[in-house]
Amino acid sequence: MTAPPTAVSGPLAGKIVLVTGATSGIGKVMVGALAERGATVLAAGRNDQRCRATIAEVQARVPAANILGMVHDLAETSGVRGLAAEVTAAYPGGIDVLINNAGAVYARREETAEGVERTFALNVVAPFLLTQLLLDGLRSRAPSRVVMVASEAHRMGRIDLDDLELRRRYSGMGAYNASKLALILLTREFARRLGPSGVRVNAVHPGFVRTRWGLNNRGWLGGGVRVAAALFAIGPVAGARTPLAVASEPEFADLTGAYVVRSRVRPGSPRSTSTESAGRLWTSLVDRLGVDRTAAAS
Ligand SMILES: NC(=O)c1ccc[n+]([C@@H]2O[C@H](COP(=O)([O-])OP(=O)(O)OC[C@H]3O[C@@H](n4cnc5c(N)ncnc54)[C@H](OP(=O)(O)O)[C@@H]3O)[C@@H](O)[C@H]2O)c1
Repeated sequence: MTAPPTAVSGPLAGKIVLVTGATSGIGKVMVGALAERGATVLAAGRNDQRCRATIAEVQARVPAANILGMVHDLAETSGVRGLAAEVTAAYPGGIDVLINNAGAVYARREETAEGVERTFALNVVAPFLLTQLLLDGLRSRAPSRVVMVASEAHRMGRIDLDDLELRRRYSGMGAYNASKLALILLTREFARRLGPSGVRVNAVHPGFVRTRWGLNNRGWLGGGVRVAAALFAIGPVAGARTPLAVASEPEFADLTGAYVVRSRVRPGSPRSTSTESAGRLWTSLVDRLGVDRTAAAS
């Protein structure tokens, strides 16, 4: 979309970092911080104008920033595949860091054009599929890192492996909590399959952050989030700290399969450590999507 200008210096000079959900909140702060530190940033959004505005905003502050916008709807697997293809075409040698940050909550059950429940599609299928499709490139740039932006909400999550899209009974927060639990389970499974060397895969909780999260909903969910965020949330700069640290700081270079909160490794809920659930969820996603690039590594 926008050609990257000249290279900048900094601790991340030469690193190529893909951030999804780059056009708002935590993702937007990460794009600026990574570009400031010299990384080439691939800023993925779903809206061309918002993507251009994000890039212009960062470049106004960091004129030498290397940012390339990529526009795809990640709730659709066609969009995820489109993003992976665009990244691979632009950087055939691979990328160093993938930050799976895009995510949302939906008060009412909706299905995507592909007929998949929207929370599951965006918060679980997209990061799983994108990571799978970019794995060869991440391996060739190893040591490389994948960061999954999860949430403490996973502690309230329950996964029904026979009803992953909540067809029987839906609640917005129930779907969201389950999606973040699924993301942590998948993080651990990626790490287990990929082993200690090569591609490091970790999940983080950014904190309760004042962003546009939840505000797409009317009624109690959107209203409640607005009030609670005004009272209790931290700002997006503080919210970006932990994902940025896990994505780029040397102290996290060897960490894999972990859940990180406030830049400290935390155990996560007992459900998030079940290797059996992780394995069953993995198999179900592989059956659905027909892709498992970790198989080549194991
Ligand atoms: N805020 C919190 O308190 C909190 C707490 C724990 C975890 N998280 C997680 O942090 C991550 C970032 O959220 P945030 O708080 O920064 O929220 P946000 O301000 O709503 O940003 C979400 C980002 O995801 C993008 N996005 C939404 N639907 C998409 C789709 N279908 N395809 C591609 N991109 C899409 C949005 O694009 P647009 O700009 O076009 O809308 C936006 O860039 C999410 O995974 C969220 O679950 C947030």
